[in-house]
Amino acid sequence: SDGKRLAVLGAGAVGGSVVELAAEYGHTVTAFADSASAVVDADGIDTAAALGSKAETGRVGTADPDAALDADYDVLVEATPTTLDDAEPGFSHVRDALERDRHVVLANKGPVAERYADLMALERESAGDVRFEATVGGAIPVLSTIEDLSPAHVTAARGVLNGTANFILSRMAAEGLGYEHVLAEAQDLGVAEADPSFDVDGTDAALKCVILSNVLADGDREYTLADADVEGIKNVPGSALELAAEDGQTIRLIGEATPDGARVSPRLVSQNAALAVTGTRNIVQLESEHAGQLNISGRGAGGPETASAVLADVGRLD
Ligand code: HSE
Repeated sequence: SDGKRLAVLGAGAVGGSVVELAAEYGHTVTAFADSASAVVDADGIDTAAALGSKAETGRVGTADPDAALDADYDVLVEATPTTLDDAEPGFSHVRDALERDRHVVLANKGPVAERYADLMALERESAGDVRFEATVGGAIPVLSTIEDLSPAHVTAARGVLNGTANFILSRMAAEGLGYEHVLAEAQDLGVAEADPSFDVDGTDAALKCVILSNVLADGDREYTLADADVEGIKNVPGSALELAAEDGQTIRLIGEATPDGARVSPRLVSQNAALAVTGTRNIVQLESEHAGQLNISGRGAGGPETASAVLADVGRLD
């Protein structure tokens, strides 16, 4: 596709990396705004790093998303932190852009997981398209693979969808430590959510599964986080991992999505199984009607990794 003008909302690891990498993908950043929301301030997103990237690109950023939405751009990149329920302020940013007939590429999971039907209705009314590859599996092309196979022919998606929880479980197994001892290490890697309880309580993986269920249901049914069965890793003791290891097994936080709903829980898996990825890796297994099982694995989190999924989506726009 031709080079696009991007308005980037969100100055965290993902938004900052989109600003840094856009030119390498042939695009121009015409506006870059930190979210003025309390979520950003309260949870300490690294705005200093983002400001550094603004300085390098010579862009003048703003702390006012509305100013960025008024700028000249072809694509709004919504990369403010994921929020639940009404998914604000992200949802309003998306609505504002679509009402102006601009395209929207989301890294923010909130509008896709919590307001899918509203989002699709806005897209139908707009000349702009909505894409959200970066919301599921970071760098891994999960949603575009489903799109290529056609959602109607993919019957289920299952896998490891949270890099932070997987890193923690991997470290717990290796060191015999409890999760609270290794969470800080995960945060140092820059893969944890703004609110890391989303990672350890299963919310982040569940949001990704809800997004997958919405895509697989293809508009027939709508799901939100409230519909998902969710258990995180907080109650997995180090001793459970030790016992599992005696048997050649380990514990992974496994998410499952079908057109009938989504669930997330810690499960025993063989240490040799494809699902037993280590560190921050993600894996998604797609079950397809005519093509059998496809496994896609790679980096499920991280600034440049997730930004590459955002920029791949920009490249898919007309
Ligand atoms: N915090 C998430 C993870 C990043 O650890 O997988 C992408 O949603």
